[in-house]
Amino acid sequence: MVPDEWSIIEDSFHPEYNEITESLMSLGNGRMGQRGNFEETYTGKSLLGNYVAGVYFPDKTRVGWWKNGYPAYFAKVINACNWIGIQVEVEGQLLDLYTCRIEAFRRVLDMKRGVLERECTVEMPTGNRLTIRSQRFCNMVDDESGAIRYTIQPLNFNGQITITPYLDGNIRNRDANYDETFWNEIQKETSFAQGILVLETKPNPYGVEQFQVATGMRFDITVNGKRLDFHSHPIRNEKYVAGKVPLKLNERDELTVYKYATNLSSSNHSAGELIPLTKAYLERITKKGYDVLYHEHTQAWAEKWERNDIEIKGDLEAQQGIRFNIFHLQQTYTGEDETLNIGPKGFTGEKYGGVTYWDTEAYCIPFYLSASGQQVARNLLIYRYRQLGKAIENAEKLGFSGGAALYPMVTMNGEECHNEWEITFEEIHRNGAIAYAIYDYIRYTGDEAYLSEYGLEVLIAISRFWRQRINWSEHKKKYVMLGVTGPNEYENNVNNNWYTNYIAAWTLRYTLYAIEYVQKNGDATSIFSKINFDSESEPSAWQKIIDGLHFPYDEVRDVFLQQDGFLDKELLTVDQISEHRPINQKWSWDRILRSCFIKQADVLQGLYFFEDDFDLGTLQRNFDFYEPMTVHESSLSPCVHSILASRLGMKAKAYEMYLRTARLDLDDYNNDTEDGLHITSMAGTWMSVVKGFAGQRVQDGVLVLDPYLPASWESYSFRIGFRGVTLTISVDRDSIRLVNPSDQSVALKIKGTQEDFVGEKVLNLIDQEIVR
Ligand code: BGC
Repeated sequence: MVPDEWSIIEDSFHPEYNEITESLMSLGNGRMGQRGNFEETYTGKSLLGNYVAGVYFPDKTRVGWWKNGYPAYFAKVINACNWIGIQVEVEGQLLDLYTCRIEAFRRVLDMKRGVLERECTVEMPTGNRLTIRSQRFCNMVDDESGAIRYTIQPLNFNGQITITPYLDGNIRNRDANYDETFWNEIQKETSFAQGILVLETKPNPYGVEQFQVATGMRFDITVNGKRLDFHSHPIRNEKYVAGKVPLKLNERDELTVYKYATNLSSSNHSAGELIPLTKAYLERITKKGYDVLYHEHTQAWAEKWERNDIEIKGDLEAQQGIRFNIFHLQQTYTGEDETLNIGPKGFTGEKYGGVTYWDTEAYCIPFYLSASGQQVARNLLIYRYRQLGKAIENAEKLGFSGGAALYPMVTMNGEECHNEWEITFEEIHRNGAIAYAIYDYIRYTGDEAYLSEYGLEVLIAISRFWRQRINWSEHKKKYVMLGVTGPNEYENNVNNNWYTNYIAAWTLRYTLYAIEYVQKNGDATSIFSKINFDSESEPSAWQKIIDGLHFPYDEVRDVFLQQDGFLDKELLTVDQISEHRPINQKWSWDRILRSCFIKQADVLQGLYFFEDDFDLGTLQRNFDFYEPMTVHESSLSPCVHSILASRLGMKAKAYEMYLRTARLDLDDYNNDTEDGLHITSMAGTWMSVVKGFAGQRVQDGVLVLDPYLPASWESYSFRIGFRGVTLTISVDRDSIRLVNPSDQSVALKIKGTQEDFVGEKVLNLIDQEIVR
């Protein structure tokens, strides 16, 4: 990809990388998403991807050895009706780029405007030469629609070109447990230059809602800029509607198709209304016309960038990388709908099923809090509140009781979808991240009222789970938590994972605080009676666990141990096994499990979350012990190490880790970009800059900043929203400049000095030497 500040550019066609490019050039608007597929037929390597937010199919679980407690299905966001398709025939021959000689090719994702563009000149096997220019977007304003401008120009012939814009529901998921299709046709309609196709997800035996999606299209045609009176012959096939338009063109004529499309689903509209609503939607957007839609859409992106951009000078690749991350986060989740969430791949591929993981709470919330605002982050918390009942049911299925909640590892509607015992049953630290996000949100926004409204019920339910999951060890005379998997999934079924124990004890402590807060400031009595809470016995049992929980520790090195017995391993460092990496592809699972190598931040994840509980010496010792053993084979890992390294003044290390996260997908670092992008870890990249290089945190309602400039950059600047104010922070070699343009002051602590800040301020930056 060509380095560029605002765009991702493929300047010659590489069919061998096409699926990677399609992932990178995905578009979305929070409601629908679309991989960077071609509009016309393409028979080469391609992963077609059209996704509608909130629409999924419960695919029957497939495992080799069934274990009681496994979920019956895996909910996956499914490939939906293809709305971008425009079939082109030239003198009776199908235009297929795969069979053409490509003379020139350029595909550009314009991140500033949220638009995908392509220009190519091709020679068909018949010798006919053509130029194709296309531009499309998933509309950020009318967010259930997209629009395409598709131009074709014959270069060396006069002849017949037939254009067939279509909607095609004969779609498969590459990821289907039983290789079946997921859609049935319900209804279709065609009229002049318009088509509507209503598809429904197939019935399922799990009582999971079936979704209907109405995809609509309307098109218009111009030749040499003039609107054409054309005849469109409707085509109606099984799960397919189209309008076929044969035209006679002269050499150099420019034929342009404007295709407007909508995706309305029963997840946010009533199923019976979908056809009339689609007609009205199509009417509305086509009336606006392409140019107005384009203008409104690009305006919406300009406003997003105004608030969210991070500008880096002196390092073009870093600039491109960070904008790429922010762009995809903004188009994956806009926060307007509390039933939606952020899948690890967003709308860019099928892997992970498009469902919700702990990634949202641990990684994404800080980004959306600061970049999109309080309400957006709040909706992400309410998503989990709405699923509390299911989390309690989920815990009951595993044998817990009394209102204990275990949130799923992977979910769409609140029900667990993960089906590997060591993760489904054991990777329970996810529960802690959901509690932590409540704390993180309140710490950032000051919205303590959230506790009475929603937060406390969730906290109590999670604390009830920890109480039952932890047991007293007569042998150790301590409370212990057995048989868990920490964030480091390269260890399973371990006892006393330090991180999980720490977040469990922390949840119990925070819940006790929340109870006290709501007792003083809210209606604790009605919450207690709603959930049958015993305000005497439950808190006292929790307190005993807080006081008596076991935390593995090595007195010699003075570090926390990832789990009991960790020191029995052969303690090697990653540089001793460089030829074996990535170990998840080169080693047997057995070897991985017995090794000391760590997939992703584990103890260090805890030190990052709970940094105020530990001094710098403790952080340094643990970082020095664990970082050399960490292989970072989860994309969620390097950002945590980068932030901690920044805190420790290890600037070179912080930058090395930052680079691994910032261009992970652009440079296909993990060799898996073709499956889709690592959307949730993109929030980690943002955190590496804002929380890492700029040292942003919130302590007692005060916004703390402690910025430094990475050695290879000339400057960087970014905006953050904090308690109703948008601050601009700019850092260059000599100074830090802060601007609060509002008349509302912000409690700010910068480089150790606290004040109520409003207006503008410049500080000299005496950049400390690289400490290590
Ligand atoms: C990581 C998990 C993460 C999941 C989805 C896995 O590889 O180990 O921590 O939740 O990917 O991003």
